Amino acid sequence: MTDGTDCVRVDRVRVDLGPRSYEVRIGAGLLARAGEEIAPLLVRPRVAVLTDETVAGLHLEALRDGLRGIEMASLALPAGEATKGWPEFSRAVDWLLAKKVERRDIVVALGGGVIGDLAGFAAAVLRRGVRFVQIPTTLLAQVDSSVGGKTGINSVHGKNLIGAFHQPSLVLADIAVLETLPARDFLSGYGEVVKYGLLGDAAFFGWLEANGPALALGDRTARQAAVRHSVAMKARIVERDETEEGDRALLNLGHTFCHALEKATGYSTRLLHGEGVAIGCALAFELSQRLGLCSQEAPSRVRAHLRAMGMKVDIADIPGDLPGPEGLLSFMAQDKKVVDGRLRFVLARGIGEAFVADDVPGDAVLRLLEDALAGR
Ligand code: NAD
Ligand code: GLY
Repeated sequence: MTDGTDCVRVDRVRVDLGPRSYEVRIGAGLLARAGEEIAPLLVRPRVAVLTDETVAGLHLEALRDGLRGIEMASLALPAGEATKGWPEFSRAVDWLLAKKVERRDIVVALGGGVIGDLAGFAAAVLRRGVRFVQIPTTLLAQVDSSVGGKTGINSVHGKNLIGAFHQPSLVLADIAVLETLPARDFLSGYGEVVKYGLLGDAAFFGWLEANGPALALGDRTARQAAVRHSVAMKARIVERDETEEGDRALLNLGHTFCHALEKATGYSTRLLHGEGVAIGCALAFELSQRLGLCSQEAPSRVRAHLRAMGMKVDIADIPGDLPGPEGLLSFMAQDKKVVDGRLRFVLARGIGEAFVADDVPGDAVLRLLEDALAGR
């Protein structure tokens, strides 16, 4: 597509969920044409935008310009994971009500996974459900959190324990906005990109081994290809299993470890979500190898790629104190992926060959954590 903005090409990935179907549009310059993209969804020309203070400073005016006359009210919440809890959530919902957002209106989430999850949940409960549009501004949000309809906030009991499935009506992933993202946040999102290769596409993992450095340096073509491929993989899984009764759990590769580590670090900047996913993927492959499910080559290759990209790979890469192995294991037991008190892990028979296991021996996990913590 060439249209006079710097939008050269838009890829479209459809998420086919019957009456809840929608498109994910991916390309550089989509923010500048947001009005055109969103207008067909509007009953009246106004939107309410939830964002965070950092993103607002960088991209909110561009969105206002791109909306070309569509009235925009906005609320900027503090940036960071701590926002994803009851206080900021109730502030956001009350603000939407004060702005008189009605059942047929559209809420827009402009930001990373924190804003997307919170705004999506706000839309899910506001007046028993209003539609929303995701405009993800981090790599993590573009490849994962903006797609698939998982919305929610954290509880003192753990991560994402309060929420709802609520699909967006449209996702606009503007590749150009990633250019203001700090390198650490970009690499954190890259953890989720690698996850797709590891869980179901060895060829994609090979492509990432070759193209990851170009992606990190800002190559837009490579970035767009990686986002498109990741979104398409997620869309196919979500279509098979929208509410995570089965296959969708594959998307949680690395997440049981990650959620325990995030809780252990107080959801702080000591460990970003995608960094936890990367460490969690390395641990899941190590556990798979110890259980005799895959060769030693697989975890070594995973670790080598993460290291080559300059990412966190080991628990030892997390600064500061952590609980002992039993403490981490108890955090895992609070995870949503616990079924009848049994820990559910995503394990792998090799790169691109993940599966869900409900029968992982607790002592194998404990020993793995002991060794990982001893490496500190
Ligand atoms: P985030 O939303 O906190 O964004 C990371 C940081 O980047 C923030 O400080 C933000 O202000 C800043 N930022 C965002 N866009 C920017 C830009 N373009 N330029 C400069 N700075 C920018 O974190 P995240 O990594 O995007 O998302 C993590 C969250 O996503 C976690 O809460 C996680 O649980 C959730 N998540 C949800 C799903 C899902 O399916 N719903 C999937 C994966 C992760
Ligand atoms: N990020 C995991 C999921 O969407 O299911």
